[in-house]
Amino acid sequence: LADTYFLFSGLIGRSWAMVFAAGGLKVKLYDIAQDQLTSALENIRQHMKELKESGFLKGALSVEQQLALISVCTDLKAAVEGATFIQECTPENLELKKKIFGQLDLIVGDNVILSSSTSCLLPSKLFSGLKHVKQCIVSHPVNPPYFVPLVEIVPHPETDPSTTERTYALMKKIGQSPVKLNREIEGFVLNRLQYAVISEAWRLVGEGVISPTDLDLVMSDGLGMRYAFIGPLETMHLNAEGISNYCERYREGMKLVLNTFGPVPEFSGEIEQKISQAMSEKIPSVPKVLDARRKWRDDCLTGLAKLKKEMKTD
Ligand code: NAI
Repeated sequence: LADTYFLFSGLIGRSWAMVFAAGGLKVKLYDIAQDQLTSALENIRQHMKELKESGFLKGALSVEQQLALISVCTDLKAAVEGATFIQECTPENLELKKKIFGQLDLIVGDNVILSSSTSCLLPSKLFSGLKHVKQCIVSHPVNPPYFVPLVEIVPHPETDPSTTERTYALMKKIGQSPVKLNREIEGFVLNRLQYAVISEAWRLVGEGVISPTDLDLVMSDGLGMRYAFIGPLETMHLNAEGISNYCERYREGMKLVLNTFGPVPEFSGEIEQKISQAMSEKIPSVPKVLDARRKWRDDCLTGLAKLKKEMKTD
């Protein structure tokens, strides 16, 4: 019997399902709401067709072959049946997730991996006390996982190393780009980096150094251009004759600048108003406009994913 992979069916669950199916793996989608499952399947079918038409469908299989790999289920026990890997994607709520892992803990065998998509709940909060804690792990994707391949793999202190290795190998197999954290930390790594950038952006705008729209350009037309291909450490390495040379040249300058950074912003009040106003002038905060802009963003990411692939193979 082929391995099956069991997922939940919200926004992220649907994206995971497409990634798994593109990798040729059999997936079962589970949800408490039958209408969620019906709309998930319809939504996935539609999305795959569009991807096929625009030439961006992933994997070696056709749309129909990929769809045939996805089934749905509203019974937790039946969903677990035959599954070797379970990717939980319920709303970001600790009590709810704990309840679900508690239920799964009672019905899974000793060889199943219990993985959570959580963006910020720590494994020690989610998994402590479970009988199968050795088989538990966080696999945090980035939205939309179909085009942004990074997955942060975060173990609980008691997670068995083989769980981490198997999860890592699975993510590789389905074409994602996994990274391993050696221990849990608030915000994992992606959000820690993101919040470092957001907080300095907030301070610079708040202090009137730059306008909100120009601040965003510094990233989208500046730093972000190279960050799509190389990280901050390799950037240092290439911007001088290697890391040590970079440190020698810029160590004091970096520390001087970093020592002028302000405290953690409140993310409220006047600065919030100012940024909100500037963003809304460019992109009014109404669902239709926001959706259109998200669609454009995803199209950009699709093109970038294609470019990255070409640049790597060439
Ligand atoms: P969502 O709200 O779109 O989906 C949640 C799904 O869980 C819904 O289909 C709902 O019917 C179902 N559900 C609720 N209670 C349930 C229960 N007791 N049993 C089974 N299913 C249940 O949420 P979304 O955005 O997909 O987020 C899911 C997880 O993924 C969260 O932990 C979130 O932090 C994480 N995540 C989300 C990202 C995003 O950009 N949306 C990015 C990375 C991670």
